[in-house]
Amino acid sequence: MVCIRKATIDDLLAMQACNLLCLPENYQMKYYFYHILSWPQLLYVAEDYNGKIIGYVLAKMEEETTECHGHITSLAVVRTHRKLGLATKLMTAAQNAMEQTNNNALEARSPYECERFNLVFGAEYVSLHVRKSNRAAFKLYTETLGYKIHDMEAKYYADGEDAYDMRKELKGKKHHQHHHHHHHGGGCCSGEVKAGAKEGAAEAKAV
Ligand SMILES: CC(C)(COP(=O)(O)OP(=O)(O)OC[C@H]1O[C@@H](n2cnc3c(N)ncnc32)[C@H](O)[C@@H]1OP(=O)(O)O)[C@@H](O)C(=O)NCCC(=O)NCCS
Repeated sequence: MVCIRKATIDDLLAMQACNLLCLPENYQMKYYFYHILSWPQLLYVAEDYNGKIIGYVLAKMEEETTECHGHITSLAVVRTHRKLGLATKLMTAAQNAMEQTNNNALEARSPYECERFNLVFGAEYVSLHVRKSNRAAFKLYTETLGYKIHDMEAKYYADGEDAYDMRKELKGKKHHQHHHHHHHGGGCCSGEVKAGAKEGAAEAKAV
């Protein structure tokens, strides 16, 4: 039995070990911490019946654009547990968390409350990079998960290989429409989401 669950700080070393086993793109421990401290909802692990981490997805929200979107930083499943649908489940869990809008958060009266209410992301799309030669991952993304090629980035990887820049549309923005009337979906990242939530709260009181 394998279970898919949200990652905790205690999983980070095992996630890094899994990454080192499976991929040439590796990260310092502080990068894992950065993810879990910033977007704790977006990291998932696959754990086997012995409590061993056999797969993970590391995801984040992009902060540099005004458009709200999620990004898959890294995904891997150990060789012994591939082709069982685990990557599909990990990806689906992260995508769902990104597009989710939590109605409680719209009523938050302070940044603190907003955080307690588990933040809203409402991502409009999710992006990722994949090596042109990575047929397994490419098939997973296109055929199973519905990603489309958005762009091609020449020599994206350290060894000179090109990447496909892929995207999948999410329905994040639509979920909260009956709660209040104006746009708020842009606020996916810290400061913005708090402003958005406050605005929502003020509006709710005025009605
Ligand atoms: C890519 C990877 C994450 C897939 O994990 P997985 O748990 O085996 O994937 P799933 O079981 O959810 O597969 C879903 C679909 O992906 C495709 N797929 C997965 N592995 C495949 C393979 N070896 N060859 C062809 N298609 C493959 C299939 O379409 C599969 O659907 P199917 O089982 O109905 O045929 C895994 O192979 C891996 O960790 N590879 C090394 C790290 C890596 O490449 N990460 C992605 C970097 S962008």
